[in-house]
Amino acid sequence: MLEKEDQREFQEKLLRWYRHNHRKLPWRETQDPYKIWVSEIMLQQTTVQTVLPYYRNWLKQFPDIQTLSQAPLQTVLKAWEGLGYYQRAKNLHRASKIIVEKHQGQIPQNYETLQSLPGFGPYTTAAVLSFAFNKPYPVMDGNIRRVGMRLKGLQMEAKPSVDKQLKPFLTSLFLPRKSSDFNQSFMELGALVCRPQNPSCLLCPLQKFCQAFRSGTQELIPQPKKMNLQKIQAVLGIIKKDHCFLIQKRPSQGLMADLWEFPGGKIKEGETREEALHREIKEELGSRIQKEKCLTRVTHSYTQFRVTLHAFECELKEKPVLNPQTHRWVTLSEFENYPFPSGSVKVIQCLKKRYSPQK
Ligand code: ADE
Ligand code: SF4
Repeated sequence: MLEKEDQREFQEKLLRWYRHNHRKLPWRETQDPYKIWVSEIMLQQTTVQTVLPYYRNWLKQFPDIQTLSQAPLQTVLKAWEGLGYYQRAKNLHRASKIIVEKHQGQIPQNYETLQSLPGFGPYTTAAVLSFAFNKPYPVMDGNIRRVGMRLKGLQMEAKPSVDKQLKPFLTSLFLPRKSSDFNQSFMELGALVCRPQNPSCLLCPLQKFCQAFRSGTQELIPQPKKMNLQKIQAVLGIIKKDHCFLIQKRPSQGLMADLWEFPGGKIKEGETREEALHREIKEELGSRIQKEKCLTRVTHSYTQFRVTLHAFECELKEKPVLNPQTHRWVTLSEFENYPFPSGSVKVIQCLKKRYSPQK
């Protein structure tokens, strides 16, 4: 949180910037809660440029809640045609009927009551209450979240616990009765200056107060969401003969086609690593193994999955019959001549450390 003096300077700079730089958009020229509500619903999954003509047309057809509530659903959906996510239009229509029937045609100003209406999630509820009624609810959209996280220097993913921290921080910066301007200002700053890539920090009114700017981490905030990658566990046999290691070529079809790898494969459900290693080497090389010893474990994320490779040093009990097209004995330095998937490259780096003659 900022000191009182800094807080005043922050507020003045932000509001002055907004006054001089904001885009004139029709929903910013009105205090009519209905019009603001319509704009926020339209803007949820759609860009400003696309929304503008729809917004004007909608207000011509349905200038107030009463008109909307009496329109047939087909007419409402027709006016929405092309905007996508039609549930938004149905919710507007349903909520308008409830507002007319239960709330005398007035949009409720109480957070809980408003949030109970169809289509009013935390975002829309805070946006309508703040923009139309100047209530001090921080609006959490992608732009505001990014600005807030950068101001506080939160180098992490945007997750619910971040919103919990940001809300009191942002509201502490609001001036009484100016919540609407503050939310709009943060939103506009995020859209025009504090952009996801290449933020214009040198033109930013908040630069002096920004932790991310101070530490040069602005573009690392927020961190991209980790995708929920499928997790795979696999075993590899590092089979050594003299100064050479046994590698094999992958099939020329399918995943990582034609790359080279160490013998091994996925651990099946219920198998130990050692059991998987015995099975895979038997399947691939026709030999039993002995003296297996875990050398290293590496993890690598590919586009589609995340694999953990358990590399075991081991010996073959029987001499395998190998096709030189698909199997080679290579020295440490010869690994350079064979393309490997990135996970295997990490294993090779470990082998180089372990077996390199210099060490
Ligand atoms: N996106 C969502 N709400 C907005 C608003 N009020 N102004 C500009 N863009 C927005
Ligand atoms: Fe965003 Fe840069 Fe301004 Fe910080 S200084 S709020 S990172 S534009």
